[in-house]
Amino acid sequence: MSFPVVRARRLRKTAALRSFVRETELLPRDFVYPLFATNGKQVKIPIASMPGVYQLSVDNILREGEECLKLGIPAVILFGIPAYKDEKGSSAFDPSEAVQQAVSALKRQFPELLVITDVCLCEYTSHGHCGLIEAGEVENDLTLSLLAQTALSHARAGADIVAPSDMMDGRVAAIRSALDEHGFAQTPIMSYAVKYASAFYGPFRDAAGSVPQFGDRRSYQMDPANCREALKEVALDLAEGADMLMVKPALSYLDVIRAVKEATNLPLAAYNVSGEYAMVKAAAANGWLDEKRVALEMLLSMKRAGADIILTYFAKDAAAWLKEES
Ligand code: PBG
Repeated sequence: MSFPVVRARRLRKTAALRSFVRETELLPRDFVYPLFATNGKQVKIPIASMPGVYQLSVDNILREGEECLKLGIPAVILFGIPAYKDEKGSSAFDPSEAVQQAVSALKRQFPELLVITDVCLCEYTSHGHCGLIEAGEVENDLTLSLLAQTALSHARAGADIVAPSDMMDGRVAAIRSALDEHGFAQTPIMSYAVKYASAFYGPFRDAAGSVPQFGDRRSYQMDPANCREALKEVALDLAEGADMLMVKPALSYLDVIRAVKEATNLPLAAYNVSGEYAMVKAAAANGWLDEKRVALEMLLSMKRAGADIILTYFAKDAAAWLKEES
């Protein structure tokens, strides 16, 4: 059967018909809102390359948590701007630091809000790398116990989910056993299993002050050219006990999201990263793009590709836009 019996346009004629046959729907409950926690009181420092995103002290983080719940966004993920940095990233597992304080304040005030923590060392090391440096190299095995300590400190503060983003081999297993040994057998791990060495993280590194002081992250983050290797990373993390997986960045990696989705049965997250956000914001500020339509189309593409969960700086705006539309 073909034209003129078949006419694809028949099902596009009215809004009601289009809605009736729509395959993918974006919902506020798909979103995770990233927050940058810093020390102090009443701190709200704008991030130049990410309009609408701020470094926030705990009091202001609480305000964000409340807004998320009101908008139907179920989860936030926390990154830290610590008071001090050293060679091994000690402030990553310091219970008096901004992330640990923000986690416990959020859980106290909003027990129903899911609080996820980013587990990595790059924001906390003086050299800006995600692991310990030995002889000028990022040392994998010695980094694992630091990551495990960091995840444990987040769990102790009350984190619902820990999310390692460092790309060291074996970190999921190391974190799993540290959590299990200390009474956190029920704390899930959302692994940034597939994280590429991407130029799209540029604005985040300004926001979090985590630009590497020498070299780059290509010896641990993945080569953007590879998709089969993503499935290898996924298999390793599954074997080590990951509960959820993430692909990052999202927009240039929709094929990878689809491949991972087809290869596993774990909940899959996609990270709509800082550079993807900054591009839309910059174009919209110039009047070159319709921010709302472009942002929603991007997020929809991630969900259509297979993401169950989307981490995005657009979360609050997108949730409000979706409400407007419904
Ligand atoms: C590492 C981490 C990064 C991001 C999330 N976790 C930066 C990096 O690997 O350089 C990037 C997030 C974004 O760009 O929005 N802790």
